[in-house]
Amino acid sequence: MQDKLSKKNIFKATASANSALNLLGGMPPEQFLAEYWQKKPLLIRQAFTQFNGLLEPNDLAGLACDEDVQSRIVEYKAKQWHLQQGPFDEDTFANLPEKDWTLLVQSVNHHLEEAEALLKHFHFIPHARLDDLMVSYAPDGGGVGPHFDSYDVFLLQGMGQRLWRISEQTDLTLIEDAPLKILKHFKTEQEFLLNPGDMLYLPPQVAHWGIAVGECMTYSIGFRAPSMQELAAQFLLYMHERVALAGMVNDPQLVLQKHPAELPKAMLKQVAEAFKQISWQEDDVAQFLGCYLSEPKSHIVFEPPKPCSLNTFSKRMQTQGLKLALKSQALFYKDTFFMNGEPCAITKTTEECLKILADTRALNAMQCSACVQQCPNLLTHLHAWYLAGYITY
Ligand code: SIN
Ligand code: CO
Repeated sequence: MQDKLSKKNIFKATASANSALNLLGGMPPEQFLAEYWQKKPLLIRQAFTQFNGLLEPNDLAGLACDEDVQSRIVEYKAKQWHLQQGPFDEDTFANLPEKDWTLLVQSVNHHLEEAEALLKHFHFIPHARLDDLMVSYAPDGGGVGPHFDSYDVFLLQGMGQRLWRISEQTDLTLIEDAPLKILKHFKTEQEFLLNPGDMLYLPPQVAHWGIAVGECMTYSIGFRAPSMQELAAQFLLYMHERVALAGMVNDPQLVLQKHPAELPKAMLKQVAEAFKQISWQEDDVAQFLGCYLSEPKSHIVFEPPKPCSLNTFSKRMQTQGLKLALKSQALFYKDTFFMNGEPCAITKTTEECLKILADTRALNAMQCSACVQQCPNLLTHLHAWYLAGYITY
C-alpha cells in the first residue's frame, strides 16, 4: 500500500492557508498581508470559535515559578506602575491584591504542545519573523498600561473579557522613571471589548491599552523584527570568524617623522588597503541570518533524551514519525538548513524532507521511511539532532 503512494503524496506539506482563512475572519492571507500587515489594526471577531484558552491561571502561575521561564508581574498601585521579574514563588501570588495587576509569561509555546499547535495557524507569516506566544493573566482592572510595541502582535482573547483601547497617535512620549514603557499622553481613538476567541491584530507602534474586565487571559502571538543595528553588530561578529587576512604591518621604507606620536601615513594606507579584502556577498548574509534567526535565545536549554543507537532511532522514527522539540527553530535558505543556529547542507536527496521538517515542524512515519531510503546520510543528522534534544518522536 505504502509503495503505491506517489512521492508527491508522501511529501505533501500540510497547508496552512485554510486555517489562516478562518483565523482572519474569512479573509485570504494574501489580502491580510497586502492591506493590514504592518499597516493598520484589524479586529477579528471569533477568529477562533469556541476558544477559551489553552491553560488555567494556576498552570500559568506554575510556569512563572520555573527558573527557565521568563515572567513578569506588572502592578498599578498608589498611582504608580510596578514591575517584578520572575521566577516567582507561591508567596508572591498569595500576597497580590484582588485587582489591578497582571502576570505575563513569555514563550509558553516552548512548554506546551497546544501552544505550538496554536502558532501553526500563523504559518502564513514566515517562521523567521515569529517570536513567541506570551500568555497573560489579570484579575479585574489588570493590564500593562498604555504603551506601544515595536513588534507586530495578534492579541487573542482566552478566558474572560478584555477592553482594548487603541490609538494611532504620533505622540509616543513615555513617562519618565517608570519601570516599564508607559505612554504619557494616551488618547483612546477606538475601543473594543474582546470575548473569548476574538482577536486584535496590531502593527508596530500602534498605541494600545488592554484592561481586564473581570478575570481574563490574553494570548499574544508576537513577531520579531530585529533592528538593523543589532543585525549589523551580530553580522560583524559572525564575519570576524570568517575573515582571514594575510601578512602584518611592515615598514622597510620608514622615514624619519617630525612627531613620533603621529600615526604614520604609510601605515594607515597599508592597513586601509588590506581592509579592502574584507567584503561579503548576499550568500554570506543569508548564512548569517539563517544561523542568527534560528539560534535559540541565550536562556534556552535543551533536554537531551536517554541515548539510543542509530538503529533503534531509525526504527522508531519510521513508526512514530518525528517532530521538532518545542524549543527548536529550523529555517532554510537555498541549499542550507539551519537547526538552532547550526547550518547543515541540503542535498537533492534531503531537500524535500528537510524543507517539510522546517515548514511543518514534523515528519510523519511515512515521510521518515522515505527519507531514510532516499538518503541514509540524513539519518545520521537526524540521530545527532535527536541526541541533542532538538527533535523528538
Ligand atoms: C497583555 O497581555 O496584557 C499585554 C499584551 C500587550 O499589550 O502587548
Ligand atoms: Co503591547
